[in-house]
Amino acid sequence: MNADLFDEQPDFSLQQVCLDDGAFLLRGFAENMDAELMSTLENVIAQAPLRHMTTPGGFRMSVAMSNCGQVGWISDRNGYRYDAFDPETGRPWPDLPEIFIDMASRAATRAGYEDFLPDACLINCYEPGARLSLHQDMDERDKSAPIVSVSLGLSAVFLFGGSSRTIRPKRYQLLHGDVAVWGGPSRFNFHGIAPLLDGYHPVLGRKRINLTFRKAL
Ligand code: SIN
Ligand code: FE2
Repeated sequence: MNADLFDEQPDFSLQQVCLDDGAFLLRGFAENMDAELMSTLENVIAQAPLRHMTTPGGFRMSVAMSNCGQVGWISDRNGYRYDAFDPETGRPWPDLPEIFIDMASRAATRAGYEDFLPDACLINCYEPGARLSLHQDMDERDKSAPIVSVSLGLSAVFLFGGSSRTIRPKRYQLLHGDVAVWGGPSRFNFHGIAPLLDGYHPVLGRKRINLTFRKAL
């Protein structure tokens, strides 16, 4: 038996759900490394604290956010954009940890996107009631790379629509350790998160954290 050949066999215990052309939900993909992801994340958040940003229209976002990587996504009265500096601390965003890059790139490969090398990770923290309204991820300069999105903590309802707002989004439950990947024909699909229901997760308590990996530059 050739061991290398055996290693390359897909793991059939993993459930993969196709969301649309080029979009997949990899059930439990990050579950076995959740403790490592969480301790790494705590270190990142200690350097760049979670905060509620303001929309260009002046509303406080219900999701608390931070970033790591070469650039971070920010929103304020002047609009949405990527910036190399954290406006809260005046410092560059913390580096993208190696284990984040590795996990995101493996998930992308599993979904059919080889050589995905993210340079930015947006950290979203949801408490009960927090939501993210339907939007497209449009601020990244590299439009060819997919988005890789990791869910940790409380489960949430992911709304995944199409390339136009008029396409009614489908609803998927995202669980701790699930990874969603969308790119290619579905790269600009509308998506969002329904208001988070209250609950308790053994690792994260009354919270959901989402990491989205992007190639922004
Ligand atoms: C996002 O669209 O940036 C985040 C989605 C999520 O929290 O799952
Ligand atoms: Fe998004």
